[in-house]
Amino acid sequence: MSLEKVDVRLPLAYRLLHPRNVVLVTCVDEVGKVNVITLAWSMPVSMDPPIVAISVAPKRYSHGLIERSKEFVVNVPTMDIVKEALYCGRVSGRRRDKFKDVGLTPSPAKRVKPPIINECIAHLECKVIQQIKVGDHTLFLGEVVAAYVNEKSFVNNKYNLTITRFIYHVGEDEFVTNESRIVIPH
Ligand SMILES: Cc1cc2nc3c(=O)[nH]c(=O)nc-3n(C[C@H](O)[C@H](O)[C@H](O)COP(=O)(O)O)c2cc1C
Repeated sequence: MSLEKVDVRLPLAYRLLHPRNVVLVTCVDEVGKVNVITLAWSMPVSMDPPIVAISVAPKRYSHGLIERSKEFVVNVPTMDIVKEALYCGRVSGRRRDKFKDVGLTPSPAKRVKPPIINECIAHLECKVIQQIKVGDHTLFLGEVVAAYVNEKSFVNNKYNLTITRFIYHVGEDEFVTNESRIVIPH
């Protein structure tokens, strides 16, 4: 077996931390027009208070919407809508209505203006508490003000992986999903 390691071009070093779970983040403009952006770079960063971080490049249309409204919703999609997720990550909402284009259904959220996406299984409604410029992206820290999930998909405070197939982004147009076998390493 070869133990040879190959160098990775530094701008692609992040790919060594993929596959990463894909989320669909919703946001709104000043008149309430909705948009959705696909993100691979999101993570929980605090439990109490509950805070999540998303990393969005300033050139994205969604960046300005989140910066101005200071609100966003993290929606968790499954493989049922992987095609729609890719579209929302390749096309800008600056001139298009991505919800209409791919047939996703927006519904009112509980505590923020951006909508939830009905076809997603979980939703974290967030209010921006801090934004940090990090290289060519902006890290938005959002305090979670409401969180809910499809009943059958979340059992005993954990996702039910026998019925849930998440979307993980490998790179470019490639995705992978989880298997149902749970590993408990002890
Ligand atoms: C799988 C996938 C993951 C992506 N992850 C991110 C991300 O984490 N941050 C980001 O700024 N853009 C990310 N993008 C790119 C944006 O989703 C894409 O530029 C989108 O068209 C921006 O939409 P908007 O202009 O309507 O905001 C990703 C794209 C794909 C396909």
